[in-house]
Amino acid sequence: MAAKIIDGKAVSAAVKEQVRAEIERDCIKAGLAVVIVGDDPASRVYVNNKKKACELCGIKSFEYALPAETTQEELLELVDTLNNDDNVDGILVQLPLPKHLDEGAVIERISPKKDVDAFHESNVGKIMIGSYAFLPCTPAGCMELIHSTGVDVAGKECVVIGRSNIVGKPMAMLLLHENGTVTVCHSKTKNLAEVCARADILVAAVGRPNFVTADMVKEGAVVIDVGINRLENGKLCGDVKFDEVSEKAGWITPVPGGVGPMTIAMLMKNTLTAAKQKKQ
Ligand code: GUN
Repeated sequence: MAAKIIDGKAVSAAVKEQVRAEIERDCIKAGLAVVIVGDDPASRVYVNNKKKACELCGIKSFEYALPAETTQEELLELVDTLNNDDNVDGILVQLPLPKHLDEGAVIERISPKKDVDAFHESNVGKIMIGSYAFLPCTPAGCMELIHSTGVDVAGKECVVIGRSNIVGKPMAMLLLHENGTVTVCHSKTKNLAEVCARADILVAAVGRPNFVTADMVKEGAVVIDVGINRLENGKLCGDVKFDEVSEKAGWITPVPGGVGPMTIAMLMKNTLTAAKQKKQ
């Protein structure tokens, strides 16, 4: 039977509307600074989408577009300035940064109270123990999509493919916090197809087009595709071979229009959280 399509655009619109309504109702002043270094075209698209979402939600956005030659010192200086700016509740430095810059050092310089990506060590630690204010945006967006299916995570076999700090690891934590039985697969995993085929909930965050094929998917599973891969013909494609997997899964996210819009919606939610916490 064909899978039901999980509509990331609709779920993200609902999250953004919640954020907008709360900002309006409580007259909250919220600001997000977005820093982009260099001219990576994909990063430019993401940054533009983040600005648009801010406008929609009533969040003021401040863009800092710096040249590719920006030095580490200059970037850290900007982060310091934004840390001390009362109009800025959230700071997002778009990754990846040009190779000569030290991403880790930049992330650690952002005040944990303004770290709306939840990349700072102290926020990552909070996610690990399950007591956190800032949601890891992409994994939290995936959880919203899973919730929208009505499938309860508790007791389910959950398989995450990919172990990045941004997606795979925090995704595993969020599923665990909801009492899933979680397996994290990666490039050294033996019998990957077999492990994936056990999953009631399968999250693909590999970064390889069409990596997950129908033989790796259990009949009726919830399949969440985090991949955004650009093919040579310019088309976007996920990590999941959509045509064949959608014949077997119970629910599946499309690319585009699945996880992508959710990441931005959760960023808006985090920016609102930061603004509310400042007031306390
Ligand atoms: N690059 C790709 N995804 C992200 C994200 O969620 N946050 C930031 N800062 N950079 C990214």
